[in-house]
Amino acid sequence: DWIMGDYIAEAVAHIRAQVGDEEVILGLSGGVDSSVAAALIHRAIGDQLTCVFVDHGLLRLNEGAMVMEMFAGRLHAKVVHVEAAEQFLGHLKGVTDPEQKRKIIGREFVEVFQAEAAKLKGDGNKGAKWLAQGTIYPDVVESGGTASKKATIKSHHNVGGLPETLGLKLLEPLRELFKDEVRELGVALGLPHDMVYRHPFPGPGLGVRILGEVKPEFAELLKRADHIFIEELRKTVDEATGKTWYDLTSQAFTVFLPVKSVGVMGDGRTYDYVVALRAVQTSDFMTADWAELPYALLKKVSSRIINEVRGINRVTYDVSSKPPATIEWE
Ligand code: XMP
Repeated sequence: DWIMGDYIAEAVAHIRAQVGDEEVILGLSGGVDSSVAAALIHRAIGDQLTCVFVDHGLLRLNEGAMVMEMFAGRLHAKVVHVEAAEQFLGHLKGVTDPEQKRKIIGREFVEVFQAEAAKLKGDGNKGAKWLAQGTIYPDVVESGGTASKKATIKSHHNVGGLPETLGLKLLEPLRELFKDEVRELGVALGLPHDMVYRHPFPGPGLGVRILGEVKPEFAELLKRADHIFIEELRKTVDEATGKTWYDLTSQAFTVFLPVKSVGVMGDGRTYDYVVALRAVQTSDFMTADWAELPYALLKKVSSRIINEVRGINRVTYDVSSKPPATIEWE
């Protein structure tokens, strides 16, 4: 609409005035905020922006390809795709403690990003002078107030401390916007509705959705199972509201449980892993109710996962609310 059009024109002019002809680096995570920030800054300064997308191997199925297709393919933005899965998984080997896992992923992320940023910064008058971040208004408030688990870790994606370390100036064009405004802006900038209205995804990604040690083969199974769950949620429309179950839930995902249980398949006995489906409804993520998904939907998801993902033979549904449970399992 025209109000958003005006807003974009103003924001673009502001970014151009701030940045001039200097170069900007932005860490793209695949999430809503960094995506919208990238699209807006790209609209303003085109090739003066370089996005850095660090793939830690714990993203959702096809996420890397989707981010590249969207930003490099459709928007024609400059994107450096850093394939760091081996490095991350290497450092996570043998580590089972949830907070330790978060720390390792956060630390590696900063390290990888920093190395890429240093390359782009160069060492003369040429090279990037700005670091852009998708910080939104609630982040600004949150980091000044209570340090929740989310705020602490979000700081690794909004790479906290890096501007100073790298001697870069900070560009935060979404700093005054609320989440719903960021989404509207994203749509107005031409980002797909599905991308802009995605559920939140934690910085450590599947790292905290594989209980205990993160093994590459667990990550592969989880990605495929989770993809099926999300696909069915997006397909299934609730008759009463006309909305999909994806839109009716605030967050939904699959958790990998590293335990084996017995099953039967054809004539044979199986001894395979278990996944749990998690779907919640919440307005602030501080408290949350488990979602009363239709049985038919659960049935479909369960049968698809067990039939399509060899290595998983049992699917459970998490009926715990927050509190006392948390939304994530780690
Ligand atoms: P919990 O599990 O604490 O999750 O009920 C509340 C919200 O925060 C997200 N979350 C995280 N986000 N890094 C993030 O960026 C994290 O380490 C992290 N832990 C939880 C979670 O997905 C939910 O939206």
